[in-house]
Amino acid sequence: MNKEFDIRKAKIIDVPTIKKLIDDHAEEGKMIRRSFAYLYENIRDFFVVQAGGNEVVGCVALHVVWEDLAEIKSLVVSSAYRGKGMGEELIQASLDEARTLKIPRVFALTAVPDFFYRMKFKVIRKKTLPHKIWADCVNCTHFPDDCQEIAVAKKIYLKRDLK
Ligand SMILES: CC(C)(COP(=O)(O)OP(=O)(O)OC[C@H]1O[C@@H](n2cnc3c(N)ncnc32)[C@H](O)[C@@H]1OP(=O)(O)O)[C@@H](O)C(=O)NCCC(=O)NCCS
Repeated sequence: MNKEFDIRKAKIIDVPTIKKLIDDHAEEGKMIRRSFAYLYENIRDFFVVQAGGNEVVGCVALHVVWEDLAEIKSLVVSSAYRGKGMGEELIQASLDEARTLKIPRVFALTAVPDFFYRMKFKVIRKKTLPHKIWADCVNCTHFPDDCQEIAVAKKIYLKRDLK
């Protein structure tokens, strides 16, 4: 069976579509809205999913935080295209990139932990994450007392595998 979609690295030309996808689903996904400036500066973090007719209908970002940690951010699939495996493949693309970069661990702050558990992510305590990552959260309307996100993480490499 032919696959109905492709995952690829984002290009500059995708930025307006990525912005609209994130803005349109920000409330639903408890996601932080992103400015054009942020998206242009961080475009190399992004993957997009392209459906038939080359329409971009979803995205995700893998952002390197430190030598041993990267964050999965801005995961969204347009409502009309859900349930086709796009979300899962976007995560797999991020994990593959983390493997290529030899990043030991990937985490996400998410309103849909069940989706991540399916891919063997485990709940972690938010307090174990470096302070650096909260810089992003000051832009969220739920920060600091009403944060409803769950922190989940997945090991990519054991330290001994990195030698
Ligand atoms: C979460 C989201 C990206 C999933 O996208 P999707 O393309 O529908 O996901 P998939 O089709 O790859 O789903 C893979 C599996 O996960 C399951 N799943 C999908 N969304 C789920 C959810 N919210 N909770 C639990 N399981 C979920 C699917 O049922 C599917 O299971 P199956 O293979 O047994 O049928 C999409 O619902 C979305 O964009 N939501 C709004 C934004 C959001 O919440 N983003 C997450 C921020 S961290």
